[in-house]
Amino acid sequence: MADQAFVTLATNDNYARGAMVLGKSLRNHNTSKKLVALIGPQVSEPCQSVLKRIYDEVRVVDVLDSGDTAHLAMMKRPDLGITFTKLHCWALTHYSKCVFMDADTLVLSNIDELFDREELSAAPDPGWPDCFNSGVFVYRPSMETYGKLIQHCTEHGSFDGGDQGVLNSYFSNWATTDISKHLPFIYNLSSVAIYTYLPAFKQYGGNAKVVHFLGKTKPWSFTFDLKSKQISGNVQDATSHPTFLLDWWMLYSSAVVPMLQQQYGDQPFNSGCVECQYSEMIICESEQSFTHEPAEPQMSSEERKQKWEQGQADYMGKDSFDNIKRKLDTFLK
Ligand code: UDP
Ligand code: GLC
Ligand code: MN
Repeated sequence: MADQAFVTLATNDNYARGAMVLGKSLRNHNTSKKLVALIGPQVSEPCQSVLKRIYDEVRVVDVLDSGDTAHLAMMKRPDLGITFTKLHCWALTHYSKCVFMDADTLVLSNIDELFDREELSAAPDPGWPDCFNSGVFVYRPSMETYGKLIQHCTEHGSFDGGDQGVLNSYFSNWATTDISKHLPFIYNLSSVAIYTYLPAFKQYGGNAKVVHFLGKTKPWSFTFDLKSKQISGNVQDATSHPTFLLDWWMLYSSAVVPMLQQQYGDQPFNSGCVECQYSEMIICESEQSFTHEPAEPQMSSEERKQKWEQGQADYMGKDSFDNIKRKLDTFLK
């Protein structure tokens, strides 16, 4: 339907790359809805051009910033004040209904059925499930709601310094009033949940429709070797499930990078794709597991247990997601 749209936001070139992948993933799954990208004026010309090729509408908006350093410091995300800019999505009144999606989300199958839901529908936040996560939500554009939301920001601020705090206090009955406004978690599966409830991920993860790379480290924080299909980056920063991260990079490198290359022409730009170089962590397509390089000295099983109990698990090595999963698989069998 022409009057319904998926909407995203990118205030800089990094998030714009996320928006490109998100847009491509929606198109690949044959959405019948319009695609809208709200962008900040900082997004470069070449990135704007690529966005225009993927999205039906690319609209430059004023960047709004909560400037709330105290609350943002609590989340260890000083950069998120800018997410107030998201609220502009309510001003898209040439659409009757929209689904907002963060630029760090990736669509794994057609999700047009989300438009059967009403404002404000969203999935629980994994950190506080009585709050919804504002990375994916169904809403109705309206100048009245837009005005009230901005007023709410001015009068009450945001308890987390970002849009999620404001939206949860504005739509404050979400947790208790209407279960049809609770989107199943598979529409906003954050990688955090994979680590906090692995058996549930094993049981239901295969049904995921949208993956959300929530947290400080985004897919574009890593680098990708085009030839060997390996992702490399910093061990401490790896928070996402390797398979989803690889899905993101495969789509980005195959469908988005060629478009960027065309736009940049002879100008140099950093696509994030490299020839494989030394790094602390390598995720291999063949194994889809984290492997250490170079090899670490061996540790006795007692030492390892002690480290685990002190909260110093070797998440990227012996205690990696895949090794834990393998162990669980043997129990489940
Ligand atoms: N965003 C943006 N520029 C920024 C930070 C955020 O455009 O500098 C937008 C982008 O759409 C992003 C959303 O705001 O996906 C929310 O931020 P983020 O995804 O980083 O928050 P998280 O989901 O990790 O809490
Ligand atoms: C979150 C959400 C994100 C939101 C941010 C700031 O964790 O995932 O969409 O912008 O908090 O409130
Ligand atoms: Mn996000």
